[in-house]
Amino acid sequence: MITKPKGTYDILPDESKSWVKLEETIRKICNLYNYKEIRTPIFESFNVFHRDQLDTSDMVTKETYDFKDRSDRQITLRPEGTAGVARAFIENKLYVDNPTCKLFYMGPMFRYERPQKGRNRQFNQFGVEALGSNSPLIDAEVIALGTSLIRALGLKDVTVKINSLGDGESRTNYKNVLVDYFSKYKECLCEDCLDRLEKNPLRILDCKVDRDKDFFINAPKIKDYLNEESKNRFKEVLDALDGMQLKYKVDDNLVRGLDYYTHTVFELEVNIPEFGAGAVIGAGGRYDNLIKDLDGPDIQGVGMAFGLERLLLAANYAGKKLAKEDQIHIYFISLGKRAAQESIKQANICRIGGLSCEMDFKERGIKAQFKEADKYNARFTCILGDDELNNFKINIKDNLTDEQETISLYDVYPYVINKLNQVNNPCGSCKLKENNDEKSTN
Ligand code: HAM
Repeated sequence: MITKPKGTYDILPDESKSWVKLEETIRKICNLYNYKEIRTPIFESFNVFHRDQLDTSDMVTKETYDFKDRSDRQITLRPEGTAGVARAFIENKLYVDNPTCKLFYMGPMFRYERPQKGRNRQFNQFGVEALGSNSPLIDAEVIALGTSLIRALGLKDVTVKINSLGDGESRTNYKNVLVDYFSKYKECLCEDCLDRLEKNPLRILDCKVDRDKDFFINAPKIKDYLNEESKNRFKEVLDALDGMQLKYKVDDNLVRGLDYYTHTVFELEVNIPEFGAGAVIGAGGRYDNLIKDLDGPDIQGVGMAFGLERLLLAANYAGKKLAKEDQIHIYFISLGKRAAQESIKQANICRIGGLSCEMDFKERGIKAQFKEADKYNARFTCILGDDELNNFKINIKDNLTDEQETISLYDVYPYVINKLNQVNNPCGSCKLKENNDEKSTN
């Protein structure tokens, strides 16, 4: 048997309903904040992600799927959305008509990581990128959008961790201090950090191996090296969060795993036992140089991304049922070939009119068909045999009221519509009614 590659998984029909619902929720939230969807390729030129020899992020150095295509072009499967969106923003000159271009995306990303709960090699991200403004307010808006989404999924316990990496000058000052400091502890540093000490000392703070050791905890903090401008900028971000009554914790050691960040960086954590304490489900920050580094204009950006798998796990943990139970309008039970022919015709008339229908395709007995109608939670069951057919009649049962009638074969559609629209319909709370209402308002 051929099996799926390690770190991938199938989304089966029962689960895909929750995905659709999650995607709908995301779209609603993006609409509230006026972010527009962008869809970029799943593979990009190698250089979109591998921009800098000095890049030390695990994602870029160890985790990308890189290959040459049949024409010897260097290709990379996208490990994240930001760089591809920035490439598309530059290539399509989206900056011409949009002073602040607010974009969102959803789709598969690829990282060669060790698979575990909530961590896969092919996973899905939802992300937003606001390009073209360096206002601290838009950093706060992105964080607000993230927390709104988490709240919409029923999770109350979110922690926003935030820090500022400052501007170039602040980071250079800080880097020099860090190099001096960690050089004294060279023999204590792990192999990765020794490499980072030379290439990107800030990322030492991201080390998972040594983070609890004293020499690490006592390392100099970036907040003490931010210049006035960077300090004021960070304060404005925090003021905007305060204004929106969004709670946050300033985390002096937060630097994030990607090398493009400048100024604001943040992570959204939830407490879910399945992930272990303080699991990050979304993260992001400002990147003032990325677009320039990709040969674009000097335009700044800020964004954030969530793992959709983690959002789903979190929503399930919070008890928010993302998908409604399966429910159809009509199940057609047919007894014999002629009845089945008529059923498919009737079902299609109803489907064209917007009613969801199902029927038996295996010539099974009446009991099995009733069972299937039950499984699909059919509001109405139509029963058709030779006797009914000969009289151009059909039996219809309203499974909500248990009312059963024999009606004209040509009246199935209006009969059902009429029932669904009855003002005193006892199924005021019925989901099918809700669905129907949604349909009629769309
Ligand atoms: P990131 O922190 O690398 O940031 O990923 C964002 C989110 O993607 C993570 O918090 C996590 O929920 C999810 N994620 C990452 N790797 C995996 C994986 N292997 N399996 C499942 N989920 C995963 C970025 O990707 C940045 N592009 C975020 C950003 C947007 N910054 C600015 N704009």
